[in-house]
Amino acid sequence: MGLPNLSKSMDIARLRYIQSIHESPQHRNPDTLVRHFIPILARLRAAWLGREELSELQADPFYYYLVARTKYYDQVVNEAVSDGVQQIINVGCGCDTRAYRFKHFLRSKSVKVLECDQPQAIHAKQKAAKRWRCFDYVEYLPIDLNDDTWPELEHWLGDRARTKTLVLMEGVSPYINGGNFGRFLVLLATRLSPGSHVAYDFKIRGVRDDFGRVGRIQEPFRLPRARDEVATFHEALGLRLEHMELSSELCTRLLPGLAESAVTLFREDGLVRLQVK
Ligand SMILES: C[S@@+](CC[C@H](N)C(=O)[O-])C[C@H]1O[C@@H](n2cnc3c(N)ncnc32)[C@H](O)[C@@H]1O
Repeated sequence: MGLPNLSKSMDIARLRYIQSIHESPQHRNPDTLVRHFIPILARLRAAWLGREELSELQADPFYYYLVARTKYYDQVVNEAVSDGVQQIINVGCGCDTRAYRFKHFLRSKSVKVLECDQPQAIHAKQKAAKRWRCFDYVEYLPIDLNDDTWPELEHWLGDRARTKTLVLMEGVSPYINGGNFGRFLVLLATRLSPGSHVAYDFKIRGVRDDFGRVGRIQEPFRLPRARDEVATFHEALGLRLEHMELSSELCTRLLPGLAESAVTLFREDGLVRLQVK
């Protein structure tokens, strides 16, 4: 089974698969299910990857950041559910497999999951997941964060808005216009119950300002590096900054020995964990 090549999310899926089978335990990607979303030929190619090709991938600073980022959001899900979250909304979910990897944990706590992505991506994922196994606690919803409003999501929230929620947006904000992403954060701050969690990552302003600037996305979302400025930005929207980390700090914290190795740390992103006030 595999999803059609949906560019970015398929690149990420392929990298995670490679990291899950070719890395040493301490740098291994925990995503052991992503193979189910990769077409068979691409999967075989990844499995037979030569040493030289692997070294080339490892030399890209993003490569190990992706391992750290995957571990980080796994932890976010674990902690949010332990804090009493009853539903998880994964926006821009791509080939992320958390909804399936955490099956027993989520089921045991009666947590529902809503997987959201652009229409083509989410329909393909839903189809692939259904062919694979029955995950009755997972729903799917098309969404485009570059729209100005999100009536389908608001409708889905309906009465569920009183339920403590985690909204996860991993690797998504750089593809969204700043104004639209800000409006989406306001929607979350106003429609989710107080104490709900929002976790996402962003490109730091001034580092790679052209990244994501394509077509109708002319002003991709950016935030400054300074924690107090990031806190002030979210405070004004109704979100309290609970935790912020830079991508280089994350790699150092979660991947033992990486900072001391020859690998260049990824320094483009920041990650935030917020709570609805
Ligand atoms: C880099 S991938 C990350 C996928 C997934 N979160 C993960 O970490 O595996 C970016 C994701 O954002 C989604 N995306 C891009 N533009 C979007 C938009 N305007 N609205 C909703 N999702 C979008 C893409 O379809 C893709 O799944």
